[in-house]
Amino acid sequence: MSDRKILVTSALPYANGDIHIGHLVEYIQTDVWVRFQKMRGENCRYFCADDTHGAAITISARKKGVSEEEFIADVKEAHTADFAGFGIEFDNYGSTNSPQNRRCCEEIWGKLREAGLIVKREIEQFYDPVEKRFLADRFIKGTCPVCGKKDQYGDSCECGAVYEPTQLIQPKSAISGADLELRKAEHLFVDIEQCHAFLDDWVENSGALQPEVANYLKGQFLSSDLYAWDISRPAPYFGFEIPDFPGNYWYVWYDAPIGYMGSSAQWCEEHGENFDDWWRNPNVEIHHFIGKDITYFHTLFWPTTLKTAGYNLPSKVHIHGFLTVDGEKMSKSKGTFILAKTYLKHLDPSYLRYFFSSKTSGRVDDLDLNLEEMELKVNADLVGVVVNLASRTAKFATTTGLSEVYPDDGGLFAEAASKSEEIAAAYETCDYGKAIRLILECGYRANQYVENNAPWTLNKVWKNLEKDESATVEAREEAKRRLQDVATISLNLFRQIVVYLAPILPDLAKKTENLLNTKITSWNDAQTPLLGVKVNEYVHMMTRVSKEGIQAMIEESKPTLEGKDESAQTSPWNDSAQPLEDEPLADVISIDDFMKVDLRVGRIVEAEQVPEARKLLKLKISLGGTETRQVFAGIKAAYPEPEKLVGRLVAFVANLQPRQMKFGLSEGMIVAAGPGGPDVFVLSPDEGAKPGMRLH
Ligand code: 2FM
Ligand code: ZN
Repeated sequence: MSDRKILVTSALPYANGDIHIGHLVEYIQTDVWVRFQKMRGENCRYFCADDTHGAAITISARKKGVSEEEFIADVKEAHTADFAGFGIEFDNYGSTNSPQNRRCCEEIWGKLREAGLIVKREIEQFYDPVEKRFLADRFIKGTCPVCGKKDQYGDSCECGAVYEPTQLIQPKSAISGADLELRKAEHLFVDIEQCHAFLDDWVENSGALQPEVANYLKGQFLSSDLYAWDISRPAPYFGFEIPDFPGNYWYVWYDAPIGYMGSSAQWCEEHGENFDDWWRNPNVEIHHFIGKDITYFHTLFWPTTLKTAGYNLPSKVHIHGFLTVDGEKMSKSKGTFILAKTYLKHLDPSYLRYFFSSKTSGRVDDLDLNLEEMELKVNADLVGVVVNLASRTAKFATTTGLSEVYPDDGGLFAEAASKSEEIAAAYETCDYGKAIRLILECGYRANQYVENNAPWTLNKVWKNLEKDESATVEAREEAKRRLQDVATISLNLFRQIVVYLAPILPDLAKKTENLLNTKITSWNDAQTPLLGVKVNEYVHMMTRVSKEGIQAMIEESKPTLEGKDESAQTSPWNDSAQPLEDEPLADVISIDDFMKVDLRVGRIVEAEQVPEARKLLKLKISLGGTETRQVFAGIKAAYPEPEKLVGRLVAFVANLQPRQMKFGLSEGMIVAAGPGGPDVFVLSPDEGAKPGMRLH
């Protein structure tokens, strides 16, 4: 075994909301990896923290009537409890609002300044004269310049139009309701284009990125000049004031990744460790686990920051996809937007740790949670194969304990022991699905052994001999020994599997330690059988997944019916009245009015990210033959993987006045529903419709 020194992080969750099962994809993946490394004897440490800064925290705190500090303290307590509930074990869980983080931010800032990467530019932004603050787009509302709909956000409208806040008609503050003023302000930017050549090389040659990620960066960002990054915000702002730019604060995304350092600095202080021995020691591996939505920050800005400040570069950025539930985005109305704490009220966290792990491949693909599949898989694999080994055999060893000498098992233990490195390699590459497949094969063979050797029959034979007065002492001893040997083999094969599964199922490992009175501490525990130990009374290790538990969790995750229309409650779908309340029906129009809108079936033939735009995807729509249109649609948050849209039929507004946008000409609009952000749903005609057909 080598002695690697490994620093691991997961993305810092925002301190303005609860942890949900979507977050857990990443924390479980990381925790499994860290536990695996620790079992292998590596010096591996896992750091995380709450991401606490930004305007959203101020607004949430105010809504709750508390200070920002009180607000983030409460959230931290809730996050910590949720993580503990799922067995996520950090070496340190800090906060970006810590003195250690401030120090790291200042030190790095000095280095960025020295390197000449910080540039000042004047930008024009809306200012709320009541709140006395500049507003980010999502805190601005007004009338859509395209469709005239009132009460639309500063960057996009429900109609699909995307615009600059300055294009809104009668822009108002979503916080105070005040009319807004356009004001100029100076901001500081990081001019990362100066580091373009370094990034080209790092992305291409470091081996830190999955190949699909490197290709994405090369195609979407590195093929043209990199935009300077606006990194300062004028007061008031909840964050750290920039020392040499008084009255201005670092933007939350500057101090968030530095929070990895802040958290580890705190741990170093508490454990007498040297910070630079972790962050400036070329022998240390740094592994970041993140979701694909924040690739940009971690693979362009972060390496630039580290490089400029003289720190180690990440050895690996492990990027995972999003969670879908039954193939769809998590949905509040369907009860699949499940909070960690709600899950924990109804189901065993081991189920989710196991199921997510079985679906983890080390690739960027999305992970789908089908609750019925989880139920079947956990019941079949864990209850039916793994735990079954112990539950059927432990009782036969409670009086005798395990044999002193490992009996002949036909080579089963040795065979499973020989899989150690193959299973370890799968864990190392985050292919937990493969690790599980290999481990289960050992489990199938072990169960076959139990079937073939039927300890329950051996037990009867022994018990009968004990009652049989004519039986010799030797015969009784032999029967007892035979039973003890079969139980010893079964329980050792069981424990070997539990050792291999321990990174995924630490709770099962604990229960096995209790059963067999022996700790599981090392990966090598799977190499040597346990002998001569006392076996405790078997207590349940895992129960089958209950359908009722799943149902209750889903029901509890649905929005409450309070305040909803009575009639909606009696319909079988319980459709909410909210959308109509949010946007009442419009005035009646004539059919002629309607026919002015030339709605056509279109097919999305190309779909790609617009790297500099936060909300837009660029689409090419075919109307059949050689007729195509380019559109910029504000659906990026809802469709983070544009390639999946290619081929899809859509409803298309074909006679909209083309608009010149910052990124190119938009020649129409695709029809979509929903309030915006991730809740946008593109409408598609049924199969059979042909591009170019008119919608009547
Ligand atoms: O996307 C997010 O949830 C951010 N809070 C992640 C920050 S990760 C790191 F950079 F701190
Ligand atoms: Zn509109």
